Amino acid sequence: MSSPRLHPDTIDAVRQRADIVDIISEQVVLKKQGKDFVGLCPFHDDKSPSFSVSPAKQFYYCFSCGAGGNAFKFLMELGKRSFADVVLDLARRYQVPVTTMEPAQQQELQRKLTLREQLYEIVAVAAKFYEHALFQPGGQQAVTYLRQERQLSEQTIKHFQLGYAPEGWQTLYGYLVEQKRYPVKLVEQAGLIVPRQGGSGYYDRFRDRLMVPIHDAQNRLIGFGGRGLTAEAKPKYLNSPETELFDKGKTLFGLDKAKAAIAQQDRAIVVEGYFDVIALHAAGITYAVASLGTALNVGQVKQLLRYTESKQIIFNFDADAAGIKAAERAIGEVAEMAYRGDVQLRILNIPDGKDPDDYLRAHTSAEYTALADSAPLWLDWQISNLLCNLDLKQADQFQQAAQAVVGLLSDIANADTRTHYIRHCAEIFSQGDSRIVPLLAENFLAQVRRKRRTPDGTKAAHDVQILSRSFLEEAEAALLRIYIHSAEHRQTIVDGLEMRDLQFSFSHHRALWRMVTELAVADPSTPSLLETLRNFSAESTGSLSQVHHLLYLEEKTRLDVLRAPLVIRAAIACLEKNMCEKRYRLLLNLWADSDFSASPEKHSQYQKQIVTEKRRIAELEAERSVDFADLASIPWVQHS
Ligand code: UTP
Ligand code: MN
Repeated sequence: MSSPRLHPDTIDAVRQRADIVDIISEQVVLKKQGKDFVGLCPFHDDKSPSFSVSPAKQFYYCFSCGAGGNAFKFLMELGKRSFADVVLDLARRYQVPVTTMEPAQQQELQRKLTLREQLYEIVAVAAKFYEHALFQPGGQQAVTYLRQERQLSEQTIKHFQLGYAPEGWQTLYGYLVEQKRYPVKLVEQAGLIVPRQGGSGYYDRFRDRLMVPIHDAQNRLIGFGGRGLTAEAKPKYLNSPETELFDKGKTLFGLDKAKAAIAQQDRAIVVEGYFDVIALHAAGITYAVASLGTALNVGQVKQLLRYTESKQIIFNFDADAAGIKAAERAIGEVAEMAYRGDVQLRILNIPDGKDPDDYLRAHTSAEYTALADSAPLWLDWQISNLLCNLDLKQADQFQQAAQAVVGLLSDIANADTRTHYIRHCAEIFSQGDSRIVPLLAENFLAQVRRKRRTPDGTKAAHDVQILSRSFLEEAEAALLRIYIHSAEHRQTIVDGLEMRDLQFSFSHHRALWRMVTELAVADPSTPSLLETLRNFSAESTGSLSQVHHLLYLEEKTRLDVLRAPLVIRAAIACLEKNMCEKRYRLLLNLWADSDFSASPEKHSQYQKQIVTEKRRIAELEAERSVDFADLASIPWVQHS
């Protein structure tokens, strides 16, 4: 959820109006001491008053734990709330009229927010209803199924809030609409009831099903998967429809319960089914999630990658034909990232075509973990998958396999990895005759080279485009990083951007920029900017989560901050160059379209402008050619 874009005047007005002593004394007992107030610090277990509030400076500080900031920061930290949320609240309290940059959008946002809040509540109440029904007489069969067929403990049933949707057409309807008086339209929008065709009235979507609640990453209930209890039940799983809350393509089942373990274990397992996740978690393997019966997409993978530092993901799809297809589709989705090394992907196929749930009935979690540990890297998996149906002893199949392998290898970005796999494939293709390995390797290498330099040059052009785009992204990232981590250079960055009228091109960078400048307006010295952003980002799943990495310096990026003036100049040049190039392309088109005989002046004017842009681009090219720390570490910039 993006925050409303508050007008800086509103933020300023609230800041003027809100008194820090007022605000803090609501939460902390403050005693006057000299010009200031002191009390027990609410941010740590304080034994003696080490918390001081200065009305003159409108600032608080704890001498013991170091917490400090202005009134906004206090409320954000204490309530774990967002900046915008705190400002809005204070505006209400101090009756400051709220203006936003885009009033229409703001109203729409408010309307949606309240709708969503109502839907969250309805879905949560429904889940309670199903949970309760599981242990009623009508739920007997479902409980037995969970305990006996699924062998789930009471603890697991509780942990996953499993439930039962009773038989009957209007059980939930009766409860939510008639008894609890929730508006029928909202219950429908929550995906729980369905309007009768042709007639009037509604019926329950889920009837006589085992209910698996689905949460989002913030642990809010957003939908259900409902499993039929018998083999005849069709479909086997009935899921909530897409609603205002529930977006299958953006949700991973179990992520709410897995994210801490993913971070701790530094890897994630993706499986196919709800019950695979449940079985894995029950076995103590709590870093598992599932996609929701839809193909896993890049967004979902990125969502997972946020929690694992070394970017390790294991796909454990069923080993049957459908599962292999699913794995291949999922691999296709993330191939580009995997080729770049942005994700360390392994593919686990459990022997005998079992799914994790089946497997864990007869095996220990240690055995499962051992399988996961030895799962092949995705390229190895693909190579062996590709070869398993081909007989290399047959000339035509050898040829076919070689071509397919060259296709796979050509896309590997890192030259060392590429060389490794070329060697590896040469060994496989040699079929045990080690003398021909070098020859085969040489041959593969030549073909891969040719393929990487495709004759029509489309690939090369594509590479250049990616390259310049990643320069731009890095330049933008470098500016933001310096702005965030080094207060002394902020003005230089602001001036640089304003003087040349430059904007950030990537939307996640634009969002971050908007946020930091808003925060800077709230508190020009902004000593707490970094911490504030970290707090935001820890809770955000929106665009801020994509810039999380800018909030923490590594060895390489620290260098950027140290040589800030140089990097700022180069980065600004990079942004301007991007703008000039856009203009240049536009002018070229205009020039090509303009009719010389009809308007020779216009024609030559375009020409002049084109020359000017071209010259400026060359200047900027020289100015920006400083290596940003991050780029130097992208292997294909060095190698290819
Ligand atoms: P599977 O059919 O592979 O079965 O569904 P499973 O998870 O092993 O199911 P159990 O063990 O028999 O209960 C995998 C996932 O695909 C989605 C669900 O998310 C399910 O968990 N699915 C499957 C549906 O959405 N609808 C269906 O009818 C079937
Ligand atoms: Mn299963």
